[in-house]
Amino acid sequence: MAKKTLRVSKIKDGTVIDHITRGHALNVIKILGINGRSGGIITIAMNVPSQKLGVKDIVKIEGRELKPEEVDKIALIAPHATINIIRNYRVVEKQRVKLPQIIHGIVRCTNPTCISNSENEPVKSVFYIESEEPLKLRCHYCGTIVEKEDILKQF
Ligand code: CTP
Ligand code: ZN
Repeated sequence: MAKKTLRVSKIKDGTVIDHITRGHALNVIKILGINGRSGGIITIAMNVPSQKLGVKDIVKIEGRELKPEEVDKIALIAPHATINIIRNYRVVEKQRVKLPQIIHGIVRCTNPTCISNSENEPVKSVFYIESEEPLKLRCHYCGTIVEKEDILKQF
């Protein structure tokens, strides 16, 4: 492709999630709870050539700026993603996603008898980062290790 050709158009206002690990654009959409039945235009690009990553996926969300807790969710599945906030066609903020030290309430423990899964006495899940890549989280309550594949199944 000629260098100056744009594969997907620039957006006026919203969020561009760039440098998503190849193959994970749809997981990013899912983890953000986007189903396309409400909200603005969503553009998904997959297998886009990238100098840094070889190939990458990109997701553009028009008319909405992501909240910090949404950015944290993306870090779970796309650890190299950059979040670009766009206002009036300009990138006004660029942020690398970063895994929080402790993950509260986003991920469910895979141990059915874990107290965080108890029905009568619901306790919010708490996980620590055991390994960043490959992603492994350790449950605060029962010590179970939850992996990226397990997390993907939950969304
Ligand atoms: N972008 C967009 N609409 C705009 C401005 C930027 O969709 N109005 C997209 C670009 O296509 C790119 C991302 O937002 O995918 C980041 O833009 P920019 O910072 O200009 O690109 P790079 O410098 O290549 O980014 P990086 O250094 O993070 O690789
Ligand atoms: Zn547990």
